[in-house]
Amino acid sequence: MLASRRILLIIGGGIAAYKSLDLIRRLRERGAAVTPVLTRAAEEFVTPLSVSALAGEKVYRELFDLTDEAEMGHIQLSRSADLVVVAPVTADLMGKMTAGLANDLASTLLMATDTPVLIAPAMNVRMWQHPATQRNRAQLAADGIRFVGPNEGDMACGEFGPGRMSEPLEIVAAIEAALGDGPLKGKRVLVTSGPTHEPIDPVRYIANRSSGAQGTAVARALAALGAEVVFVTGPADVPPPEGVEVVRVQSAREMDAAVDAALPVDAGVFAAAVADWRVASASDRKLKKSRDGLPVLEFAENPDILKRVSQMEQGRPALVVGFAAETNDVLENATAKRLRKGCDWIVANDVSPATGIMGGRENAVTLITGEGAEEWPRMGKDAVADRLARRIAETLAG
Ligand code: CTP
Repeated sequence: MLASRRILLIIGGGIAAYKSLDLIRRLRERGAAVTPVLTRAAEEFVTPLSVSALAGEKVYRELFDLTDEAEMGHIQLSRSADLVVVAPVTADLMGKMTAGLANDLASTLLMATDTPVLIAPAMNVRMWQHPATQRNRAQLAADGIRFVGPNEGDMACGEFGPGRMSEPLEIVAAIEAALGDGPLKGKRVLVTSGPTHEPIDPVRYIANRSSGAQGTAVARALAALGAEVVFVTGPADVPPPEGVEVVRVQSAREMDAAVDAALPVDAGVFAAAVADWRVASASDRKLKKSRDGLPVLEFAENPDILKRVSQMEQGRPALVVGFAAETNDVLENATAKRLRKGCDWIVANDVSPATGIMGGRENAVTLITGEGAEEWPRMGKDAVADRLARRIAETLAG
C-alpha cells in the first residue's frame, strides 16, 4: 500500500530503536523507500551498518557532514520525503521539537521540513507522565505533529505503564493513515459505542456500566487504517478518538436515529451497550416524593438497532458486526444472538464481574462468524480493536 512512498525515518536514542529495524523491513515490504537518519544517541542502540543494510540506502548522521551537504543538503533532505517519521522519539527530542531547537541533524531536519511529521514516543513511564513531557505532547499535537502510541505494558526498565513504543505494524498503520493509504481508504464505517441513558425524569436516568473504551478503540483502529468513520456514541467515560465524525446521543432511540442518518456505510460495528428498555412514560417533571408511595416505572422496548440494520432489505452494509456481552454460556448465547440478529459477525465477551472486562483495559473475545468461533487471547482493548479492524479491512477488500 506504500508503493513509491518515501519515508524519512529519524531513529532516536532509546532501547526501542531495535524495533525500528523491523519497521524499516515492514515499510520496504510494502514498497516504501526509507531514508534513515540516526541521532548520535541512537548509534548506541543500533549500528549505522544494520540500518543502512535494511534500508538499502545511506544513513545520514551528522549535520556538518560535508559529503552529505555536497550530495544533498539538509533542507533538501528534510523535504524529499512524503512523511517524516521519528521512531523512537525520546523525551529529549520531543523537548527539542517543542522548543524549536536545531542543534543536530535530526532536530534541524524536523525544523526545516515542510512535510507532515509522525512521531512514536518511547520512554520510561515516569518520563512520559512527567508534566514537562505532557506539556510538550500537547504543544506538538497542537502544532500538527501526529502521534502513534506510546503503548502501555512492561518496559525494558522493569516498570509498567504507558511509554512503550508502538509495535512496527502499528507504526506502519499510522504511516498509511497519515498518507491516506490505509487498506480502508475510501470505505465508510459506522461504529456505535458507549452506554445509553434512558430518562426517568429530567434529572434521573437508567444506564449501564459500559465505558465506551472498546468501541472507541475500534473507531480509532478503523480510522488508522484509512476508513472514514462515523462514531455514534452514548455518554461514555472515555473521550472519542481524533479524526472521526462524532455524533453524540443519549438514549437508544436517539442512537437509532443517528445510525439511520449515517447510512449508507460499507460496514457497521455495533459496540454500544444499548439499553434494551426505556421508561415508558418518562416524566417531563422531576418526580417528587409523595404520600402515594413509591413510584412504579413501566418499561417499553427500545428499537434493536443492530437487528434492524442487519435485516435491512435495501442498503444493508456489506458487513455488520455486533457485540455480545454475556455473563454465562458465552459461546452458546453469542452464537444464537448472531442468528437472531442476522448480523455477519459477533464479537462475544464474558463480562461477568470476575473477568474485570467491563470498564477494564483488557478484553478476551471470541469472534463468531459464519465459519465458526475463533477464540482470541486476552489482550488490551486497543489490540482487540486493531485485530478486528484488520479483519474488517480484509473482508471488505475480498
Ligand atoms: N444492540 C442494539 N440495539 C439494542 C440492543 C442491542 O444495536 N437495542 C446491539 C449491541 O450494540 C450489540 C448487540 O446488539 O452489538 C448485542 O446486544 P445485547 O444487549 O447483548 O443483546 P440483546 O439482544 O439485548 O440480548 P440479551 O439481552 O438477551 O443478552
